[in-house]
Amino acid sequence: MKNKVIELSGDKSLSHRALMLSAISKGVSKIGNLCDGLDVLSTISCLRRCGVLIQKKEEIYYVISEKFINPSQNLNCGNSGTTIRLLIGLLAGQGISATLYGDESLMKRPMDRIINPIRKMGANIEFKNKKIHLNKSQLIGGNILNQTSSAQVKSAIIMAALGAINKTNLRESHESRDHTEIMIKQLSQNCLNMAGRNIIVNPSTLKSRYFHLPGDISKASFLIAYACLSAASGVTFKNLLINPSRMGFLRILKKMGANLLIHNKRLLNGELVGNITVEPAGRLKNIQINSSDVINMIDEIPILAVMASFSKGTMIVNGVSELRLKESDRVHSIIYNLNRMRGDARAVSDKIIVRGKKSMYNTSIKTFSDHRIAMSFYIASLLSHGKATFDNLNCINISFPNFFEKIDEIRL
Ligand code: S3P
Repeated sequence: MKNKVIELSGDKSLSHRALMLSAISKGVSKIGNLCDGLDVLSTISCLRRCGVLIQKKEEIYYVISEKFINPSQNLNCGNSGTTIRLLIGLLAGQGISATLYGDESLMKRPMDRIINPIRKMGANIEFKNKKIHLNKSQLIGGNILNQTSSAQVKSAIIMAALGAINKTNLRESHESRDHTEIMIKQLSQNCLNMAGRNIIVNPSTLKSRYFHLPGDISKASFLIAYACLSAASGVTFKNLLINPSRMGFLRILKKMGANLLIHNKRLLNGELVGNITVEPAGRLKNIQINSSDVINMIDEIPILAVMASFSKGTMIVNGVSELRLKESDRVHSIIYNLNRMRGDARAVSDKIIVRGKKSMYNTSIKTFSDHRIAMSFYIASLLSHGKATFDNLNCINISFPNFFEKIDEIRL
């Protein structure tokens, strides 16, 4: 049978960072293969309101920034946690006054983890009436300890530190995805000094460049799961981001017995990129997952839990408390839907326990308007008996507008 080749739009985490860092770089920046999801459009629209010129010509985004201005309207960050959190840091560092808000789900998510460290660096921020009010201030930098296991928090602090008068010494108690650090190193040689979990940010001028973004490994995870579960033969994903801090899901799938080959590895703008081929491997075997693995696959736990329901044995995922703070309470959303499909899933303290079943049965699925829950259970529905209905599949546009086309490329 013919090998199927799938290419995906750029990684969402990289897309937000490329736009924001280009917005404070000197000169004209260019970005190719930007993520086409609504979250990234939220970042573009907020930056434009702050005076950043962003134009798209023949699939390339041009970003030109002369001077940030105080936006005349409130900044709507939609559903995007990365937009609001990283922008708080970026705009605080640029001495901007602005009000930021988002949809109901976003404004329920914790913001203190960002506000507290950035206040400590000298920012004047208030969170009231479901909006974040940033008042003009000059950041001073200083010593910051981040005890939250979150790349968004780390990145917001680094973005803020880029505009401080003095250097910032950031100590991290957990590791998390390192895209902000990698990208800044591409834009300035002496801005960051890193030693283990210590990052020193020396405010310096960033120089614009061209970023061609690799395909999104988190989007690919849904398709890889579908290829494994449906025993589709020879599906190759080309030019995917394979940064080790994002590879937890694939490492676990290999341990479960999946037949995955990572090849053609190379560096693109400092990020590791490669091709991934999925071949059939029979029914997978559930395993136990440690909390230290969860951080490297935080966005893939919903699809992993779906996979566990179709695999042999019992999966235990430890350390899932951060999942309760995502676009929905994902521990609840996962367990609710798996059990409605006559699966066997439960939460015990900060663990999710899923027992594999021979068959799953379609029903009415509740997406909780969470894009990753919608995609995970759409894939579950393709492999289950009967007919499924969904309360909201539009939320998939948040990250992956052509999800259905890509599923068809594997199916047909
Ligand atoms: C992201 C970090 C993760 C992830 C989110 C994107 C990022 O969130 O869940 O989808 O781009 O930095 P946390 O930092 O809250 O873990």
